[in-house]
Amino acid sequence: MTTRPFEVLPYPPWLEHWWVKAAARQLGRPDIAACLRELEREVQRLSDLFTVERSPGFSDYAQDERLLLAYGLFFFPQTFIRIQFPLIEAVAWRGWAPPSDRPMRVLDLGAGPGAAGLAVATLLEKVTESSAIEVTALDRAPTALGFFQAIVGDLSAYWPRTRWTFRVGDLRDPPTWGVPLDTPWDLIVVSFALGEAFYGQTDTRVYAWLRHVLRYLSPQGLLVITEPALRETSERLERLRDAVARAGWPFIWGPCLHHRPCPLLAEGCFWCHEVRRWTVPPSLADLNRRLYRMIQVLKFSFLTLSPQVPPALPAGPMWFRLIAPMAEMKGKFQTVGCASDGQKYTYEILRRHLDADGIARLRRIERGHILCVQDLQPVRASTWRIPNKAVS
Ligand SMILES: C[S@@+](CC[C@H](N)C(=O)[O-])C[C@H]1O[C@@H](n2cnc3c(N)ncnc32)[C@H](O)[C@@H]1O
Repeated sequence: MTTRPFEVLPYPPWLEHWWVKAAARQLGRPDIAACLRELEREVQRLSDLFTVERSPGFSDYAQDERLLLAYGLFFFPQTFIRIQFPLIEAVAWRGWAPPSDRPMRVLDLGAGPGAAGLAVATLLEKVTESSAIEVTALDRAPTALGFFQAIVGDLSAYWPRTRWTFRVGDLRDPPTWGVPLDTPWDLIVVSFALGEAFYGQTDTRVYAWLRHVLRYLSPQGLLVITEPALRETSERLERLRDAVARAGWPFIWGPCLHHRPCPLLAEGCFWCHEVRRWTVPPSLADLNRRLYRMIQVLKFSFLTLSPQVPPALPAGPMWFRLIAPMAEMKGKFQTVGCASDGQKYTYEILRRHLDADGIARLRRIERGHILCVQDLQPVRASTWRIPNKAVS
């Protein structure tokens, strides 16, 4: 069984300290614990806005300094980690290579205070050979962008090869971006901003925008969209990917390993999303002490598209992405995968004969991992057994 576990970069303590210090300064409270307690209500408010209270104009929080401080301490670290998964997957599993002979151009749409743009720059500084990285961050909220700019100003030494440009504009409307549109971008990220920008608008409108934005990518470029793992936002991404698959252009690099209709959307019971463990920064854990949010795992859905055809995978049950947890049941482990032939299959592994290492390895597998398993044995319709030797 090939799992190719790729390591995301942990949330840097220097970014955490920056936000803690910013909160202490702006609230005028040097006592960090008191500071975090004072922002509990704002975190609660944002949490509700991002889930149960989504309504037109709900993104106005990005103009409010206190809400942005709460965002920076609570949501920013989570977004910083989440955006890395689809990007590392494109590099590690699909062989995506950023240009090495010229500066790499990145556009962060709906950048807010910068979690995604900063994560991308931190990662690219580490994994690419590009001589320079040029990040353009766009948001309609100057206050949110102001935080992004302040971070980059204070901590510029952490991104020695990155140049930053900030623009206030409407991500839905490229002429407002205030940047030349004739030099293509190598990477466009839209991190937790699509659903906000297009709240209440039709899929047709979002799809038209998507196809328009894809024109600004270089031939090898990537567009990565991440969204909350809510049913509403995840199914919108599934409908967009189905429309893309039907049109035959651009190409889907993730989460699907195929261009067939999404089997989850066709069934209408569950929706495709990732659930990933991470190391929670101490200030976030403190802030959560009385909020009881589930912070040990990060949930999100995503869509990665490119004008470039992804490397072909053999179609069949052998290659699949986990679209359910690896569940421990009586006598076996069991999960569900979306395979490279566009089918949804159940996969099981008998527990007997598994040694402690094998069990530990299975317990590390998460919803969203891609697996490649040789010698699958048919059990019944749409169910495959993973041979124990594949785990050892
Ligand atoms: C949840 S925040 C995400 C910020 C950042 N991308 C991240 O991942 O942390 C959503 C951002 O999208 C911005 N936004 C919403 N609608 C927008 C629009 N039409 N044009 C530009 N930015 C928009 C908001 O101002 C906000 O900063």
